[in-house]
Amino acid sequence: MRISVIGAGYVGLVTGACLAELGHTVLCTDNDATKIGILECGKLPIFEPGLESIVAKNRKNGHLSFSAELAKAVAGGDVIFICVGTPPLPNGDADLSSIDRVAQMIAAESESDKLVVEKSTVPAQTGQQLKRVLEIYGRGKTIRFRVASNPEFLREGTAVGDFLHPDRIVVGVDDETAEKQLRKIYRPVLEQGFDCPVHNGSCPRGNPPAWLVTTINSAELIKHASNSFLAIKISYANMVSDLAEKLGANVEEVMHGVGLDPRIGAHFFKPGLGFGGFCLPKDLQAFVRLAERHGVDFSMLREAERINHHRVEGFVEKLRHSLWVLKGKKIGVLGLAFKANTDDIRFAPSIELIKQLQHEGVDVIAYDPQAMEKIHVRLPELNCALNAYEAAQGADALLIVTEWPEFQRLDWKRVHQGMARPLVLDGRNLLSAEEMSALGFEYESIGRPRAGQAIPTALA
Ligand code: UGA
Repeated sequence: MRISVIGAGYVGLVTGACLAELGHTVLCTDNDATKIGILECGKLPIFEPGLESIVAKNRKNGHLSFSAELAKAVAGGDVIFICVGTPPLPNGDADLSSIDRVAQMIAAESESDKLVVEKSTVPAQTGQQLKRVLEIYGRGKTIRFRVASNPEFLREGTAVGDFLHPDRIVVGVDDETAEKQLRKIYRPVLEQGFDCPVHNGSCPRGNPPAWLVTTINSAELIKHASNSFLAIKISYANMVSDLAEKLGANVEEVMHGVGLDPRIGAHFFKPGLGFGGFCLPKDLQAFVRLAERHGVDFSMLREAERINHHRVEGFVEKLRHSLWVLKGKKIGVLGLAFKANTDDIRFAPSIELIKQLQHEGVDVIAYDPQAMEKIHVRLPELNCALNAYEAAQGADALLIVTEWPEFQRLDWKRVHQGMARPLVLDGRNLLSAEEMSALGFEYESIGRPRAGQAIPTALA
């Protein structure tokens, strides 16, 4: 099928490249000409494992191309996926101005029937507005616009695999033709018989994804309700971890035990510095705003948000407890990306943490395997190290902020030798308390007892 993807960010680029991988002819466009220039030179503006090779392969075989001209993309696609950003406004609402602008352009430029698919995360009822805009700005034309919602459930870091091996494909439609077109687009994924690039060419024939057909409103709601539920799970684990710490229990054992109940599930129970990134925090806010506007009490989500906001503050307090005085101390920060396997620093806990430490007069030196370029733009004054050892050199404490596997594999003896005080605060429970203690570190993590820690005296 001839597909156009509008917006070449994390979602658009992965969607475009994967649709090309499924055999469709895809044109990806973005109003950022620099981004399109980078893509046309064969480079990627983001780091996403597995993406570079499928982009290169599909550009070469002609399935995937890029253009900065929206009109060309509109003309060239029978199906148009809208993947533009919906960033938060100061009041927490999703900013839908890009969707509105793109819809007007589609209406103005289209000369044939189009299926317009919302892929961007949007509040419920956006599809209805989209339909209105297409009808009003396309009035007088003898063509038909269909609208569908097809929310993405891609996680940064594993987005290619998530697209090609989804658990579910949700399509919100209001007519049968739209569903048929979408089913045709996703047929290879539903049949799981294609030569998938993310498993060295041999795609496991696991369970095919659920194909869920709903109304457009429901599909939009599924996306916000899913991300918000994940946020609740993380905040719940973080809340339990605070109590586990006070009681001398181990939160990992606790959440493992809780998650064994299939009604609850084991995923998204890792405590730490809280959820960041460009999805969970903003989607939670937008969902709360949507509910407020309709007079529905979503205070449960507000509480999840509040717990999340306090994670960094609690971590700084832990550091203060260990170091006594923060001012004038040198502190190494390992990890800047909001999670491992991405270079994305949007709403990353690292940024808030660094700001708080610098405000207290701490000399911060940071390192991340992928996010250095992006942090230079965001915090140009930040002192950065070339590697983890340099960040630890002469430091009074080392903070693990992102769970990069390479931090697990460091030569921790060497780290120990370089530090002024061998204190490690592990904000992601990446390392073993016993091993760190055996190496002579003062080591603290989240919701887990220190090695050899006695039961709190009140209970002993
Ligand atoms: C999230 C959802 O997981 C995807 O399903 C969704 O498609 C995507 O948002 C989106 O809306 O586009 P993503 O933002 O890539 O994906 O990241 P997650 O893997 O969800 O992690 C979000 C944050 O939660 C990270 O900061 C991570 O460190 C944190 N987290 C995650 C925890 O603190 N504990 C956990 O157990 C899991």
